[in-house]
Amino acid sequence: MNIKLSSKTKDSSTPVFLFKNGKKIENHVFFRNSADADKDYIKLFADKNRDDEFAACLFLSSGKKVLILKTKENKKNPLRKIIISMRRIISLAKKEKIKEIAVNLEDFTPAGAKESGLIETAELLATQFELANFEFNNYKTTPKGGWNYVERAFIIAKENASLEKAVANGKIIGEEINKARTLSNTPGGDMTPQKLAEAASKAGRDAGFRVKILGENEIKKLKMGGVLGVAKGSVERPKFIIMEYFKGAKKDKPIVLVGKGVTFDTGGLNLKPDNYIYEMHMDMSGGAAVTHVMAALARLKVKKNIIGLVPAVENMPSGSSYHPGDLLRTMSGKTIEVLNTDAEGRVILADALEYSKKYKPELVIDIATLTGAAMAALGQRASAIFSTDRKIEKEMIEAGEKTGDYLWPLPLWEEYEEEIKGTFGDFANIGKTRYGGAITAAVFLWQFVKGDPPSPKLRRASKKQGEIPWVHLDIAPRMTTIESDSLSKGAAGASIALLTKFLRK
Ligand code: BES
Ligand code: ZN
Ligand code: ZN
Repeated sequence: MNIKLSSKTKDSSTPVFLFKNGKKIENHVFFRNSADADKDYIKLFADKNRDDEFAACLFLSSGKKVLILKTKENKKNPLRKIIISMRRIISLAKKEKIKEIAVNLEDFTPAGAKESGLIETAELLATQFELANFEFNNYKTTPKGGWNYVERAFIIAKENASLEKAVANGKIIGEEINKARTLSNTPGGDMTPQKLAEAASKAGRDAGFRVKILGENEIKKLKMGGVLGVAKGSVERPKFIIMEYFKGAKKDKPIVLVGKGVTFDTGGLNLKPDNYIYEMHMDMSGGAAVTHVMAALARLKVKKNIIGLVPAVENMPSGSSYHPGDLLRTMSGKTIEVLNTDAEGRVILADALEYSKKYKPELVIDIATLTGAAMAALGQRASAIFSTDRKIEKEMIEAGEKTGDYLWPLPLWEEYEEEIKGTFGDFANIGKTRYGGAITAAVFLWQFVKGDPPSPKLRRASKKQGEIPWVHLDIAPRMTTIESDSLSKGAAGASIALLTKFLRK
């Protein structure tokens, strides 16, 4: 979509009247600029429609259309409603086959926002417009009249360079999220570990970061028994994707992002039942998120050192699959007792988390569609966050709030370690009870972030030995969009907006 700032509306654009419940439509700038006959009609419609919220397209006598939306302001948390309005404008415009719209920037600023608020709003608006305009139709024949995308959006505001920049940045973020959504939506038959690796290489070339792909032999040399174990059942060979972006100061330790790249999760020999297997081509969404957070940061020219790691495998049942009961030795030397081949994400992430230590990172963040249990706990409106660092956790939740990419915390307590004690190996890959599966999975991963218990000598040298701050995002709840997101069906691109926001700071 072409998104431009403009100081006045063009005749070719469909104006969008967005107003808050309790406010008068007459005060809207676009109303003041309307023809008198239209004014009466618009006012009549607004007054007659007493719903707290609505979104409609009006056909004026002149043959022109206008979009009119009323929203009920959420006083405590105004941004939530604003984000949904941004998306609803685009979905309504698409439905009405409108190609060009004009919106008034000030309509979207939360009450009391200052100049800097306007800049943030412009960026958010551009991102949300891109997200709402996206549809996955790569596999559909283009209809005769073309797709109903909105082609141009004019943001009416006093033009200035920082606003222009904000719009451009917002657009970049939206585009990168949409690229990740495309990767996730691509069917499992076409999105193999090899293809995911190629997509990362392309993202690196386009955005400007280094990508290195390790094949099976190199993975063997690294002794990544977790990755190799899960990959055993598939004819598709595993890849380990390494992305490096060093634009920060030399002395700054990098932040490592680790993404689950299971290109299809059948469950393996613990085969998933019919309806549970359906969307499992999206089980690489964490990997896609890492790739496109890197791309967004590179395109935004963020001055940081960021590393992305994606273990990519396909989890298949076959004569060569890993078995329940197998004992896998991970890169760290710690062994995993595979009690369920469907808990494969944590097994490959164990190796990737160990690999992350090579970079002596300041912070490690992993992103994974890890558990159905996280969905059972939170529904489909927030991803789960677990962290060893309260302050970082809080900042990330806030970044989520500002981007409509919501997080909610769950406990990371040592007490839960009891659950994953192995009988014949160091750690079992599932818990001992049916309860708290999202937490068990997080606590399992934690074991591979923690250093070995420091020797007394080392402990004296550094209290912090072996304690890398770590965040785990279980994005299974928000793997796919739901109706109320006002985004097209399929992958939601969860965590990219919030991580981009968090990492730019
Ligand atoms: N990829 C799934 C989790 C998932 C489920 C993501 C639904 C998105 C939507 C993961 O590999 C898995 O199968 N987890 C199991 C773990 C269980 C065997 C302990 C689960 O959640 O059921
Ligand atoms: Zn699984
Ligand atoms: Zn999985």
